[in-house]
Amino acid sequence: MNLVVVKDYNEMSNVSANIFKNTINQKSNSVLGLATGSTPIGLYKRLIEMNNNKEIDFKNVTTINLDEYIGLDEKNPQSYRYFMDNNLFNYINIKKENTFVPNGRAKNFDLECKNYDKRIQELGGIDLQVLGIGANGHIAFNEPSEYLISQTHITNLTKSTIEANSRFFNSINDVPKQAITMGIGQIMNTKKIILMATGKDKVKAIRELLEGNITTKNPATILNLHKNVTVIIDELIAREINR
Ligand code: F6R
Repeated sequence: MNLVVVKDYNEMSNVSANIFKNTINQKSNSVLGLATGSTPIGLYKRLIEMNNNKEIDFKNVTTINLDEYIGLDEKNPQSYRYFMDNNLFNYINIKKENTFVPNGRAKNFDLECKNYDKRIQELGGIDLQVLGIGANGHIAFNEPSEYLISQTHITNLTKSTIEANSRFFNSINDVPKQAITMGIGQIMNTKKIILMATGKDKVKAIRELLEGNITTKNPATILNLHKNVTVIIDELIAREINR
């Protein structure tokens, strides 16, 4: 596991954007695994700038997102499809039909999950995956649990995730209780991973991740078994965990 300590959020966004740039410039038809939430917004801003400056070309790129809330459709500003359109896809030269986010309003969720896995396989796997991390160690919406699920599945969000994500909603009661999420197996099969974390809320989860022990109580710790992970943290977290 590579650890990169950056000064602040801005530097984190630049470092991760450069990793994306190298991946796309080495393979123009890269498959990129994308996340939502606060953490990757700066990365997406940099990618938009790089695309406008013609440093990177998304013409042949495919993207596949980690997760989506159950019950929200693409017109709902809290849906992850809406987030991706409005924080990235609408501003770069990607073909919309090459951007995939799980359908939170699918008629048949079993089928939606199976098809999502099939799609990843048909695309030849994910070249580069960006991850945030929950304060409880979740990656995508693989929440701490007795066991972790390998494939795309429906999950119940934990109280701590609902509380953390309520900042995006009018009221905590509006936060969906379930999500559709890529499983741990999909994440572990990606060729390269960047995990980014800033701020004091993430200290505990990152400390446990970097300690190297693997526990389903902190799903991110499984990344210790992946061969190509770069963890990017800010100085605040680094200081707290003596790195
Ligand atoms: C989002 C996702 C989540 C977030 C995590 C951190 O697609 O899969 O695992 O990455 O909840 O969220 P932020 O970045 O808002 O702290």
